[in-house]
Amino acid sequence: MIRLGVLISGSGTNLQAIIDATESGALDAEVVLVVSSKPNAYGLVRAHEAGIPTMALTRDAYVDPTTADVLIAQELKAAGAQYVVMAGYMRKVGHPLLEAFKDRVINIHPALLPSFAGAHGIGDAFDAGVKLTGVTVHFANEEYDTGPIIAQSAVEVAEDDDLQSLEARIHATEHVLLPQTLQLIAEGRVSIDASRKVCITYE
Ligand code: GAR
Repeated sequence: MIRLGVLISGSGTNLQAIIDATESGALDAEVVLVVSSKPNAYGLVRAHEAGIPTMALTRDAYVDPTTADVLIAQELKAAGAQYVVMAGYMRKVGHPLLEAFKDRVINIHPALLPSFAGAHGIGDAFDAGVKLTGVTVHFANEEYDTGPIIAQSAVEVAEDDDLQSLEARIHATEHVLLPQTLQLIAEGRVSIDASRKVCITYE
């Protein structure tokens, strides 16, 4: 059993996928705190419904991002979190949080990194006309969307896709890949080698 802190900014469907997987037993984890960078994020409602403690930060709290990260790290530690999952957290996570949870901050990105990094991974891939895109789960580091890749899942772009239909398939893929990847971490199968690549051991 691992204890997770989850960072969100929006609708929290990935948070929901994590909660559902813990409840079904597919993910041996407990979400101990949900932190939102927006007080009106719907993900906070999901957390309340699941009985998970929450903390919401206002825009003012991020005037100094370092102070915000120190506060978030303190609250996550106090809640007993061992890993931090950025599940649609649209803020950069900085040094204080990355240091407090060294190689234990996990991000989900809606494209096949290193392609289409940034805040609009799905739309940027769609606009580029790629035939294949997907989802990446990776460890976060100080540079946005560049940390060691843990798992990826490909999603084909169909001829008749529009942005909405592609988004729907990307999200559905995320909701499978993220809990599965967290379960690999819970089972102690995920490590980072000397060249900063992720190794996964299977039986
Ligand atoms: C997800 O698609 C996630 O991959 C993306 O935000 C969405 C959040 O949805 N994150 C990024 O783009 C980070 N660069 P959710 O709030 O419903 O989980």
